[in-house]
Amino acid sequence: MTKATPLLEVRDLCVAVGDKPVLNSISLKVAPGELHVLLGPNGSGKSSLLAAIMGLPPWRITSGTILLDGTPIDEMSLFERAQLGIGMAFQRPPSLEGVSLNSFAKSIDAHSDLDQAAERLNLTAFLQRDLNVGFSGGEIKRWEVLKLILQDPHLALFDEPESGVDLEHVKAIGTAIQQFMARPDKTGRQRAGLVITHTGLILAHVDASHAHILQSGELVHSGPPTELFQHVQSHGYSVPLAS
Ligand SMILES: Nc1ncnc2c1ncn2[C@@H]1O[C@H](COP(=O)(O)OP(=O)(O)OP(=O)(O)O)[C@@H](O)[C@H]1O
Ligand SMILES: [Mg+2]
Repeated sequence: MTKATPLLEVRDLCVAVGDKPVLNSISLKVAPGELHVLLGPNGSGKSSLLAAIMGLPPWRITSGTILLDGTPIDEMSLFERAQLGIGMAFQRPPSLEGVSLNSFAKSIDAHSDLDQAAERLNLTAFLQRDLNVGFSGGEIKRWEVLKLILQDPHLALFDEPESGVDLEHVKAIGTAIQQFMARPDKTGRQRAGLVITHTGLILAHVDASHAHILQSGELVHSGPPTELFQHVQSHGYSVPLAS
């Protein structure tokens, strides 16, 4: 029997910023319908991995490859990758003065979905406001998740969507991500996703199938999300898990 092509495959990936190596020989596969979790201490390379998949500068692939639905994307620009259906909710998104949530949604042709999606994330009162201008930390995170949902990506990358968010809104964000992942994309295909978390709170609200621990730019362990997170909670990152 032939195995289905992973939606995302990262193969022996090494990434540098300038001359500084930040990721070393990372391999992982995410199948259609799967949401994987990335754990790891500050500076271990989690955001760098998402940035390398998205194609953001200044991250540079030095060896290895990234495949989307079996096609290498390493040579593709950020714009081409976004057009293929890769999208990212940033850890620290910028403010955009002069661009309201409403006008942003119109510009990506997602205006018809905006009201309902905004209501779910308690952002209805924000639609006329400029993106992230004067938003609180938790409001920025909610908008960032809403923005990615409106973009309707095939592969969704969430960088710490619940950091600094109160517990009720963690539930709203988690539920929104879960409903979004369960819904096929505009081409009728199942999505896949990667989500970075430090708190693990999001795990109570999403069906994550795998987790991976990054340390010093290397993927040191993969396993069931709850088991890995509980280990980290009890022992930190310095005590390795038995394989
Ligand atoms: N533009 C850059 N210039 C220099 N070093 C960088 C740059 N971007 C990332 N790095 C370095 O790469 C390493 C990995 O950073 P990254 O942001 O991927 O970590 P992280 O695991 O997401 O951490 P956190 O949990 O704090 O968000 C860090 O040592 C960081 O300082
Ligand atoms: Mg990060």
